[in-house]
Amino acid sequence: MQNSERVNFASKIGAILAAAGSAVGLGNVWRFPYETGNHGGAAFILIYLGCVFLFGLPIMIAEFVIGRRAKASTGEAFKVLAPRSGWKYVGYTGVLTGFLILGYYSVVSGWTLEYIFQSATGNLLGKSANDFVSMFQDFSKSPWRPLIWLLIFVGMTHIIIVKGVQKGIEQASKIMMPMLFIIIVLLAVCAVMLPGAMKGLEFLLKPDFSKVTSDAVLGAMGQAFFSLSLGMGCLSTYASYFSRETRLGHTAVSVCVIGTCISVLSGFIIFPAAFSVGIQPDAGPSLIFITIPNVFQQAFGSVPVFACISAVLFYILLAMAALTSTISLHEVPTAFLHEKFGFTRSRAAWIVTIGSFLIGVVSSLALGDWSDVKIGGMNLFDALDFLTAKIMLPITGMFTALFVSWKLDKKMVRDEVTNRGTLKASYYPALIFILRYITPIGILFIFINELGWLG
Ligand code: PHE
Repeated sequence: MQNSERVNFASKIGAILAAAGSAVGLGNVWRFPYETGNHGGAAFILIYLGCVFLFGLPIMIAEFVIGRRAKASTGEAFKVLAPRSGWKYVGYTGVLTGFLILGYYSVVSGWTLEYIFQSATGNLLGKSANDFVSMFQDFSKSPWRPLIWLLIFVGMTHIIIVKGVQKGIEQASKIMMPMLFIIIVLLAVCAVMLPGAMKGLEFLLKPDFSKVTSDAVLGAMGQAFFSLSLGMGCLSTYASYFSRETRLGHTAVSVCVIGTCISVLSGFIIFPAAFSVGIQPDAGPSLIFITIPNVFQQAFGSVPVFACISAVLFYILLAMAALTSTISLHEVPTAFLHEKFGFTRSRAAWIVTIGSFLIGVVSSLALGDWSDVKIGGMNLFDALDFLTAKIMLPITGMFTALFVSWKLDKKMVRDEVTNRGTLKASYYPALIFILRYITPIGILFIFINELGWLG
């Protein structure tokens, strides 16, 4: 079902900007470094790059083809392109995954607001590395404070989705994204110059293949899907707003390159900084919240005003990057409820907002009062992240690849990739080959390998 409300969303913005706004977020600055830290550094990054190339890039083009062709959000797109078949469940799984991710992602987004507040009030000044560790632990384990920030963040996302001020946000992100990029480069330069930073650089650049377990490979694959917003129909929903002239391959390459650069640059901040003050690189989700304040402290501590202003700026930009991602996560289930069940957009948005807030509450408490509740040895926050990023996204991504390469009419796919024959797109045969064989077999292989390892 088409309707003017949905089509308005992001219709006037550049395709690259919209997709990059969704892709660049906490996945690059928060999740990439801690996954890299957990899995031993440079070797993980190499595997990650392989996953971006073999899974990320082709699946991104596949999602673009589906979205632009079907002109519907992901929940309905599979149904439009393959009526009366089971393929629609691929779209539905994507919707569910997006909804679950939105819940715990908003918790971490809320943490960025706390750090804007802390840096603006000067609380990050004059502290030692250990102070930052206990500061983060006290905060994340306390029952109320993270929940208040969660509520504020979920509220911000809700207002933007309902009021349809995406255009404003995307205009703002045109300025914010380059600013975030510049500040990340500056911080990386500062971090690399810290005393003892060499060890961090070594961790980042010198691969130790003995650390490559099946777990690390699964982690790298999950990170590629998560960070590029793939496997839940987010980018296919965005592609339904692309114009006929948007070059799908070109857009996908741009988004992959931008996202990967920001991730790797974040590594150049975190690891030199962590090794410099003796923080273990496998500190998990807390990693950036205990290392980045240290970079500000050590690099600019002698000029407190400058330290404060730059820290506030950094966390504002990070919160903005998170916001453009939560908007895209929210849009998928909202558009689905609106199109499938005929709810008004506002009611659909309320359902998603309340539901994701409740998931957020559970994930947040899982790090404090409820940390004893475990599934498969993980607290509920980690379990949710594991289930969505490492299982659900790759599975949906695999079926997306199969759908485009086996099920869809090849003339139609070629038409989309070449903009109805107006582009050369000489990569087309390779794309179909990779989507048909390499991507699905690769994903299956990684799953089977992991099961074997677990057993
Ligand atoms: N890619 C986003 C990030 O890296 C997170 C995200 C995942 C957004 C899935 C949309 C869909 O922060």
